[in-house]
Amino acid sequence: MNTPIKPAGKGARRIPEPFRIKMVEAIRQTDEPERRAALEAAGWNPFLLRSEDVYIDLMTDSGTGAMSDSQWGALMRGDESYAGSRSFYRLSEAVEQIFGYPYTIPTHQGRGAEQILFGELVARRASKAPVFLSNYHFDTTKAHVELAGGQAINTLNPEALDTAAYHDWKGNFDLVALEEQIGRAGAENVVAIIATVTCNSAGGQPVSMANLRSASEIARRHAIPLVIDAARFAENAWFIREREAGYEGVSIAEIVREMFGYGDIFTMSAKKDALVNIGGLCCFRHDPELFRAVQVRCVPLEGFVTYGGLAGRDMEALATGLREGMDASFLDYRIGQVAYLGERLRAGGVPIQYPTGGHAVFVDARKMLGHIPPEQFPGHALACELYLESGVRSCEIGSLLLGRDPVTGAQESSPFEHLRLAIPRRVYTNDHMDYIADALLAVNERAASVRGMEFTYEPPVLRHFMARLRWRQ
Ligand code: F0G
Repeated sequence: MNTPIKPAGKGARRIPEPFRIKMVEAIRQTDEPERRAALEAAGWNPFLLRSEDVYIDLMTDSGTGAMSDSQWGALMRGDESYAGSRSFYRLSEAVEQIFGYPYTIPTHQGRGAEQILFGELVARRASKAPVFLSNYHFDTTKAHVELAGGQAINTLNPEALDTAAYHDWKGNFDLVALEEQIGRAGAENVVAIIATVTCNSAGGQPVSMANLRSASEIARRHAIPLVIDAARFAENAWFIREREAGYEGVSIAEIVREMFGYGDIFTMSAKKDALVNIGGLCCFRHDPELFRAVQVRCVPLEGFVTYGGLAGRDMEALATGLREGMDASFLDYRIGQVAYLGERLRAGGVPIQYPTGGHAVFVDARKMLGHIPPEQFPGHALACELYLESGVRSCEIGSLLLGRDPVTGAQESSPFEHLRLAIPRRVYTNDHMDYIADALLAVNERAASVRGMEFTYEPPVLRHFMARLRWRQ
């Protein structure tokens, strides 16, 4: 029997884990002096810590989930043939059954799919000023748009910017802005519209079916392909079932099928909702000619078209994980766990993106550390303080990650200064959530004494990964 769960904001509560634990991995609690020494050695950048020095790792939900006994079993069936692997056909059949897309290319992860697809789409558009429009481009998506010679423009629902105000669909496209941007760029220059479900950068926030349908109508009217960035497709479907009129009681599988009917192509980082540690997909609903052209690009960049950078066993685990990720009782628990952490923080006065999304709690560091200006990276300062307090690793999603304008060198203005607590799937228990909440509440008590940060080394690109910093005096 499913435990009924209330979405965040309507009285979220603990949902017991719908699994029992067959194998464990030890993690180590450290003391404050040890953590201070480790972070000092890491240049005050949690990305540069050794994972052994981390107690609970919330840096990302990507590739950090636990596989099930069925997935481990499936690994043994892997067909490691270079070409025509049985495991590829099993994966391709699962994709067709679940999403209704008959043409599948496996890739090593999400960005591999972006790389082989975007270059081909740009080449076909043959525009001098190619543009991609999205509710919000994830960082690697933006990077691959730019590497392909395009410009990435976001048209996010402005309601997402008010972190304190409840809104069901903070991941939605602003449809008026979308139409305006098409008008401004000229439809012939718009290479693709990318629907990111859920919208990671806004807080793992969902896109409604109605919004997806409208975005696809706009795309069709202007003959622009709609690409779904599907990393967290199952979590998005869960929110539709939970919140959208007409979808109560509809199965996750049916909702997923309808969502993907609005797209032409999807790229997927399978390291999230598909519950594998590595893998990605680039799939087509129609247009076998485009599929073939992207396959041609896959060979030199990812590998031959029936493995795309994956081992046969990885494709087996992925085919199994795609289905497990859509299990309704798993999703009730999964999204309920995130909501539970969010509610504990809110109850203790920590400002968060509200309601919580699917995969993470986003703490509003701009509000929590209001005395630290964006150029001193309040989200990053908070990540360092949380680690010192507890050994919990998290990451900044704000000005540090956004970086500088490549032309002027000025810091770009970030819509958010967030600290992301991304929850790996099936890895941590609700007791871990309590530990995390207690630690962040302790940091909140001394928020006024937290200082801003400055660089001692700033890499020229993707600086947040390798930067070294220190506290400002
Ligand atoms: N699209 C979205 C929405 C993502 O969140 C990610 C990765 C990607 C594409 C790229 O996929 O990592 O498999 O190459 N997000 C991770 C994160 C890294 O931490 O949110 P990838």
